[in-house]
Amino acid sequence: MTEFVHRFVPGSSSGGRTLLLLHGTGGDENDLIPLGKAIDPNAGLLSLRGQVLENGAPRFFRRLAEGVFDEEDVVRRSHELAGFLESAVQKYGISGPDLIAVGYSNGANIAAAMILLGVAPFSRAILLRAMVPLTNSDPVEPKARRILMLEGEADPIAQPAQAKVLATRLQATGARVDLLFQKSGHELTGEDVATSRQWLVK
Ligand code: MLT
Repeated sequence: MTEFVHRFVPGSSSGGRTLLLLHGTGGDENDLIPLGKAIDPNAGLLSLRGQVLENGAPRFFRRLAEGVFDEEDVVRRSHELAGFLESAVQKYGISGPDLIAVGYSNGANIAAAMILLGVAPFSRAILLRAMVPLTNSDPVEPKARRILMLEGEADPIAQPAQAKVLATRLQATGARVDLLFQKSGHELTGEDVATSRQWLVK
């Protein structure tokens, strides 16, 4: 099994939800802890560091250029991450239905890839500024059943047209997808936190 550098912060109520935090390019396991706490102060947090280094910047899979992904690597890393998560949920006593992915940019893209490949061990996902990580994928049994996609109307990286294609592909796995655009670019805003909080309690 491939190990990932990670942080686990137990939740304040036993048996509650755990947010799986997946950072964007150049982030690490510490990056999204404040976001996770803002989205759900009582949740456990399992925050990972991507293993690929791009000029020293951690990522979850290789890319050939901005927005051009090494899809073989996407597939391989998605399976490796899923394998690590299977052991992490056991180690930390997290039940699958209580695990919710929260990924930003590259972290949202690897979460989306795991869903498209049918290896996502989480039941729900919040994808912040996600793009299409794989051009083709075979139909899969849905594992992540509810997905929130939050995208920026003026995002030059995760462009709205791409987000719409991804939403359609995720819906085709049988998941219920809520795709929302807000007045932002690629950066995260307070609206991402507020919308994610509301969506989690629905
Ligand atoms: C990022 O900066 O994280 C990206 O543009 C998204 C990615 O490369 O997966």
